[in-house]
Amino acid sequence: MTGLIGRDFLSLADLSPEEVRGLLHLAAEMKGRKVTPHCPKLLGLVFSKASTRTRVSFSAAMFQLGGQAIDLNPSVTQVSRGEPLADTARVLDRYLDVVAIRTFAQEDLETFARYAEIPVINALTDLAHPCQALADLLTVREQFGRIEGTTLTYVGDGNNVAHSLLLGCAMTGANVRVATPQGFEPNPDIVEKAKAIANGRSEVTVTQDPIAAVKDANVLYTDVWASMGQESEADDRLPRFQPYQINNDLLAKADSEAIVLHCLPAHRGEEITESVLEGDRSRVWDQAENRMHVQKALLASILGAA
Ligand code: CP
Ligand code: NVA
Repeated sequence: MTGLIGRDFLSLADLSPEEVRGLLHLAAEMKGRKVTPHCPKLLGLVFSKASTRTRVSFSAAMFQLGGQAIDLNPSVTQVSRGEPLADTARVLDRYLDVVAIRTFAQEDLETFARYAEIPVINALTDLAHPCQALADLLTVREQFGRIEGTTLTYVGDGNNVAHSLLLGCAMTGANVRVATPQGFEPNPDIVEKAKAIANGRSEVTVTQDPIAAVKDANVLYTDVWASMGQESEADDRLPRFQPYQINNDLLAKADSEAIVLHCLPAHRGEEITESVLEGDRSRVWDQAENRMHVQKALLASILGAA
C-alpha cells in the first residue's frame, strides 16, 4: 500500500476501488500477524464530538504500530477560544505525523487538510464516516469470504454512515440498498457518485420501502435515528422511523443466513431491538473490533510502515 503514503483520507472517494480492496487485504493480513511493523510516529486526535470506538481503536492501533496518539479535544485547546482552524492546522502540522479529525462540517475537515501538510483522516463528519465503512466491509469479507456480489441493506436515517456505505459497497462490488423515511434520504450527490462508481455492475438503490429493501439481503445494517448534533429532533423522528426498525420480523424477511451490523452506539428499542442486537445473527462486536484493524492498516499505509 505504498501508494497511500502521505495521503489524506477525507472520504472513501479519496481512494480507488483497488486501494480500498488493498487496504482490506492488508487489514486482514495484519489482524492475523503477531508482530506489527515498528512505526514511532505521533497521531493527533482532534475530536469535537463524543467517541468511544474511534478514539480508542485509533489509539490502540497507533500503540500497536509502535507509535503514540495524543488526545487533542478542542475543548482543552485554543480552538475552544476561537483560534482559527487554519492556524491550528499549521501548528499541529509541525508536531504530529498524522491527524484524525471528528467534527461537524465536512468543510472544516477540508480546511484543516488544506492547511496541514501532514495526512488528515476523517474520523466522522456529518457527511461521512469512511473508517467505519472500511471496518464494515472487512466484517462482510470475513463473514462471507467475499464482498463482491453480496447485498447490504441499510435501513434508517440517510446519514454519514449510510453515505460511506453507499460509496464503499459500490467500490467493492456489493449491492447496496438504503431505505429511509421520506425526507431523510441520503445526499443525492453521494448516491449519484455511488451509481457512477458501480456503473451498472452492482445495485445502488434508495427507497422508502424497508420490506422490499431487505428481501434476499445478506447484511442488514442500521444506525441511530438522530446523529450527534441532531439530539433535539430525536423525539419527533421516532414515529416516522418506527417502520425502519431492525427487529425479528424485518430480519425474517432477509436472506435466511443474513447477518446484522450496527456501527454503535445503539439505541435498543429504537433503530434495533435488544433481541436482534444480542441475537445470533448480530456481528456488531466483530465489527467494532475491526475498526482497530482497518485503521491500523490505514495508518501503516499512510505513514509508510505497512
Ligand atoms: N462507531 C463509532 O464511530 O463509534 P464512536 O462514536 O464510539 O467512535
Ligand atoms: N450517525 C452517527 C454515527 C455515530 C458513530 C452520528 O453521527 O452520531
